[in-house]
Amino acid sequence: MAAMKYFVPALAVAGRAAAQCSVAATSTIQNAGDASALASCSTFSGSIAIATGTTGEIAIDGVQEITGSLSATNVEELTGITGDSLETIGGTFNLDTVQILSTLNFPRLTDVRAIEWNALAGLQGLVFTSGIQMASTLSIQNTQLNTLDGINLQTAETVYIANNDYLNDITMQIGNVSDSLVLTSNGRNVSANFPNLIWGNVMTFRNCSTVSVPSLASTNGSLGFYSNFFQSLVAPNLTMVGGDLSFANNDDMTNITMPQLQTVTGGLQIANNTELNAIGFSSLETVGGAVSFVGSYETVSLPELSNVRGAFRLASTSDISSACTKFRAMHGNSGVIRGNFVCRSGSGSSGTSTSNGDDSSDGGSSSSSSSGSSSSSTDGTSGASTVYVSGATALMGVVAAIFGML
Ligand SMILES: *[C@@H]1O[C@H](CO)[C@@H](O)[C@H](O)[C@H]1NC(C)=O
Ligand SMILES: *[C@@H]1O[C@H](CO)[C@@H](O)[C@H](O)[C@H]1NC(C)=O
Ligand SMILES: *[C@@H]1O[C@H](CO)[C@@H](O)[C@H](O)[C@H]1NC(C)=O
Ligand SMILES: *[C@@H]1O[C@H](CO)[C@@H](O)[C@H](O)[C@H]1NC(C)=O
Ligand SMILES: *[C@@H]1O[C@H](CO)[C@@H](O)[C@H](O)[C@H]1NC(C)=O
Ligand SMILES: *[C@@H]1O[C@H](CO)[C@@H](O)[C@H](O)[C@H]1NC(C)=O
Ligand SMILES: *[C@@H]1O[C@H](CO)[C@@H](O)[C@H](O)[C@H]1NC(C)=O
Repeated sequence: MAAMKYFVPALAVAGRAAAQCSVAATSTIQNAGDASALASCSTFSGSIAIATGTTGEIAIDGVQEITGSLSATNVEELTGITGDSLETIGGTFNLDTVQILSTLNFPRLTDVRAIEWNALAGLQGLVFTSGIQMASTLSIQNTQLNTLDGINLQTAETVYIANNDYLNDITMQIGNVSDSLVLTSNGRNVSANFPNLIWGNVMTFRNCSTVSVPSLASTNGSLGFYSNFFQSLVAPNLTMVGGDLSFANNDDMTNITMPQLQTVTGGLQIANNTELNAIGFSSLETVGGAVSFVGSYETVSLPELSNVRGAFRLASTSDISSACTKFRAMHGNSGVIRGNFVCRSGSGSSGTSTSNGDDSSDGGSSSSSSSGSSSSSTDGTSGASTVYVSGATALMGVVAAIFGML
């Protein structure tokens, strides 16, 4: 903040219809007059920050492009931001702790490098008539948005949508998400629909009521489903998970359907899904890490399994003694299961369990060596700012270099 300068428009180029204005650093808008002084700038070269003391609504009309960022942080009495002509924000559209902001009206905005919104307790909807299609980072947290209408990305690096209690529909036409996609703690009935998503990297779904990924073919990183409310998860086209595949604490889930899944390069973990009685992956051949199934399931069907590099652990409160027998035979001489083999079967209501450890073979350590690349990242992805910093630093560097030469 200290580096910011109060708004002093420098009309670098007084074009005919389209003036270009530039500043050496961030310009700070404090009131409607500052904002309307920008109207002559069709392209504003630099960043615009809305000062903490600003009240009411700010209209940045006339400006078509902001090459840097547009931001408001800790602006307690700002109620709205509008821009009738704004199409592009070259940097970050950053709104953080703007508690009574209720209006965001940018009918022409389509292209933003990064959207980072947090703690917008009054924001219920967007007026983005054209719709944002391009953004490398989309991070929306702690808002009251009940729809993302107006944001329909075609492609993104990072999508992080968390703690938006009223958001019950997350539908995007996005084709791929190259870094991470994380959905956590949105509306209790949130339906996550990605009809065109073909590949992703790390993808984490928490607390969703529906997850629909009909086209998903592969992930480069881990895919995890935690504490969701859906009964079934269907990924009809998924063939490869390039990290861990995890299902934990999905209390209503009765069915996992991934009929084409052949390869999981990391571990395969299914734990504490209390209604899941049958575990089956009809095409699964290879698991690069460990297999671990914990719960009350009764059957395990992995008819194509040919290679598990890590450990294989089955534990159920139900009687899975036939699964124990079947998979124990795949350990040892047949060489399908190379790591440790453990099977704990409950037996009906008595809960007696038997352990069939085999510590003589190549050791439990093989399980921990699974999937070195991506298994750690599911929680780390919440730091969307990390992703933003590197990109934005490069961008700001370019902007700074340009101004250094002016
Ligand atoms: C990512 O998705 C977009 C939109 O569907 C598509 O245009 C682009 O080719 C995809 N990129 C890759 C590398 O698959
Ligand atoms: C939850 O969302 C589904 C659509 O995804 C809708 O049919 C259903 O009525 C919603 N339930 C509640 C309680 O809002
Ligand atoms: C599933 O994959 C097949 C073959 O790659 C493709 O033809 C089909 O369109 C995909 N289905 C969906 C819903 O994307
Ligand atoms: C991720 O997978 C997609 C599709 O398989 C591929 O096009 C892309 O290059 C991969 N990206 C990385 C970073 O490995
Ligand atoms: C949401 O998911 C988190 C982590 O997976 C879990 O701790 C939390 O209890 C879930 N919330 C609800 C309401 O289920
Ligand atoms: C899971 O659902 C699929 C289709 O959605 C169905 O074909 C299959 O029989 C179900 N499996 C179980 C164990 O219910
Ligand atoms: C599953 O539940 C057991 C027993 O409550 C617990 O020790 C374990 O950490 C849970 N696993 C996961 C992945 O949540």
